[in-house]
Amino acid sequence: MCGIVGYAGTKGAKDVIYSGLKQLEYRGYDSAGVLVVEDGKIHIDKEVGTVNKVDITSLPGTSGLGIGHTRWATHGGVTKDNAHPHTYGNVSLVHNGIIENYEDLKNRYELTTVSETDSEVLAGVIDYKMTTDNYSLREATVRALSECQGTYGVLAVAPAKEPGTLVAARSGSPIVIGVGADKEYIIASDPSAILTTNKMVFLSDGEIAEFKNGTMQVYDFASKPKDITEETVETEKSSDDLKGFDTYMHKEIFEQPDTLKETMRGRILSEGKFNLGGPNLTNEQIKSLKSIFIIGCGTAFYAGQSVKYALEELLDIPVVVEYASEFRYRHAALEADNSVAIFMSQSGETADTLAAESEARRRGMPTMGIVNSVGSTLARSVSHGGIYLHAGIEKSVASTKAYSSMVVALLMFGGFLAEKRGLPLSDVRQLGTDLLDTPREIASMLESFEDIMTVASEVSGFSNCFVLGRDTLYPVALEGALKITEVSYMHAQALPTGEMKHGPIALIDENHLSIVLMPEDKLMYEKTCSGIQEIRARNGKVLTVGSRPAKGGLSDWHIPTPMTGKNISGLVINCALQQLAYGIANSLGRNIDRPRNLAKSVTVE
Ligand code: G6P
Repeated sequence: MCGIVGYAGTKGAKDVIYSGLKQLEYRGYDSAGVLVVEDGKIHIDKEVGTVNKVDITSLPGTSGLGIGHTRWATHGGVTKDNAHPHTYGNVSLVHNGIIENYEDLKNRYELTTVSETDSEVLAGVIDYKMTTDNYSLREATVRALSECQGTYGVLAVAPAKEPGTLVAARSGSPIVIGVGADKEYIIASDPSAILTTNKMVFLSDGEIAEFKNGTMQVYDFASKPKDITEETVETEKSSDDLKGFDTYMHKEIFEQPDTLKETMRGRILSEGKFNLGGPNLTNEQIKSLKSIFIIGCGTAFYAGQSVKYALEELLDIPVVVEYASEFRYRHAALEADNSVAIFMSQSGETADTLAAESEARRRGMPTMGIVNSVGSTLARSVSHGGIYLHAGIEKSVASTKAYSSMVVALLMFGGFLAEKRGLPLSDVRQLGTDLLDTPREIASMLESFEDIMTVASEVSGFSNCFVLGRDTLYPVALEGALKITEVSYMHAQALPTGEMKHGPIALIDENHLSIVLMPEDKLMYEKTCSGIQEIRARNGKVLTVGSRPAKGGLSDWHIPTPMTGKNISGLVINCALQQLAYGIANSLGRNIDRPRNLAKSVTVE
C-alpha cells in the first residue's frame, strides 16, 4: 500500500529514494513520485503506474534532500494529480494514513487544492502556519497535525523558507529512520526500504524528527527534545528473481515445503516436543488461560479460523477468531480475564490489526504476534512476544506461503500451551510429528500441479462458485474462496456444506460450480456426499477436492489429495486450492501478482 522513503544526507537523494521505493513495490500501489530539493527549489516527477515510470533522470543528481512515495488510492482516483508528493505554497510532503477531517480543514483555511487528496490539504495547513503564523517547518507541522484527526506518517520539506530541512512525524503510520555513515539519514515507512544501513531509530506516535545540517533531533509534539535509541535491525531485502516461475504467486506456492521447514526449524524437536522461545507468557498465565482470541484480516484471519477447531480440541478452552476491524469495538471481549490475544499478520503493518492490538493492550490484555515481517510495527508493539514465521518475503498480493506458515505456527503454539498445561502428552506428540510431516505432504500435493491446471482451465468459464467445507474444512473453504476471488475475479462464496440447503441452494443450476472439500472422516464424508446429491439433483456442476471423490461418480471433476490425518489435511487441501486459484486466474489471463484494487499491505483503516 502507500509507502514513504525520504533522504537527508550528502549523497544523491534521488537514487536512494528510488531504490527504497522499488523495495516497497510488492506491497501494492497505483502511482509513485520522487521530489528532490536543490538550491531552494523542488524538482519532482510523479506518475500513474509503477515506480519505473518515474523519470529520475530528469531530477538533479547532486541533491542530498528528497522525499518519495508509492500511493494506493483512498481519497480521490488514480491520477497524476492525486499522486504524492503534494505541494501547497512552500510546503511539499508525502503522507501515509488518512486525515479524516480534511474537508473541515480545507474550508477552515480556505484552501484551493489541485488534487482530491486529504494529503494536499495537510500541506496547505502546514504552509498556512509557516506563512501566516511564521512558524518553522517543524513547529508548523506539529501545529497542523494537532488539528488533524486520523492517522499519519508524514515527511515534509519547505525549501523556499528552510532549504536544508526535512521533518518526519508519526501518529499511527510507522516511520523508521536508518542512520547511515557520514550524517546520512534514510527515512521510510518500512525498514525493508532502508538498504544501506541496519542501524535504525523507530519514531513513536506523537514524535517528530527534524533533519538539518547533517543532524537529527527528535522532539515530542510539545517541542521537548527526546533521547533516541538506535537499534540494529536485520531486514530481508526483496529480490526480483522469479527463479524460473512465471509469477510470484506460483513461486511462493512452490516454496512452501521449504518455508514450512523454516517456520518449524528448532521449534519442534524430532520426537514431537515443542520448543518455542518467542512467547513471553509465564507458566502461571498459561495454566490459568480460560480463552484465546485470534485476530487478523483477510488470509491471516482465515489462518486463525482454520486452527480454531484444533486448538479448542487440544486445549479444551474456547478459541475466538475475530476480524481485526471488528475486534477493537468488542469491548466485553477486550476485557476478558485470563485470556491472551494473538494478532496474526504477514506484513505486521495492517492498520486494522495494529489498531485492534493497541486497543487490546491499552485495556490490559496480554497481546502476542504471529508475524512474518521481522521488525514490523506489530512485532514491535505486542506485549508478550510471539512467533516469527520465517517464511521469507512474500511478494504476491495473494498470500500463500505466509498462510501455511501461520497455520503451522498457531498449531505449534497450541502444542506448546498444551504441553505446559499438562494435557495428554500423546495428543501433543502426535500433533508435533504430524506437523513435521507437512513439508513432505505439501511437496507431494505440488506434484499434481499440471493436472490441477487442466481442471482449472476447464472450470475457468464459470462466473460463480460455492466452496463448500464441513467441520475443519469449512475454514479451508473460506480461504480457498478468498484466493479464487482475489486472483481470478470469479465470484466464490464459501459455505459450510450443511448450510447450502438453507438458502444458497437457490443459486444452483447448470451454470453454477460447487467446489466441495471432501473430508477423510467416514461420517463427514457420507454427509458431504448427501450435499453433493442435492447439487447434482439441480443440475449443478461439482468439483471435489480431497482424498476420495464423491460416491457414485457424482464428481464432474476431482482433484485427489493425499490421506494425511486430521491435523494437516486442511493444509494439504488448501495447497490444492491455491494451485486451483492460480490456474483459473492464469487461464483467464489475469494479472496474478497484482490483482486489481488490492494491496499487499493495507495501511489504512
Ligand atoms: C490485505 C491483503 C490480503 C491479506 C490482508 C492481511 O487485504 O490483500 O491478502 O491477507 O491484507 O494482511 P497481513 O499482512 O496483515 O497478513
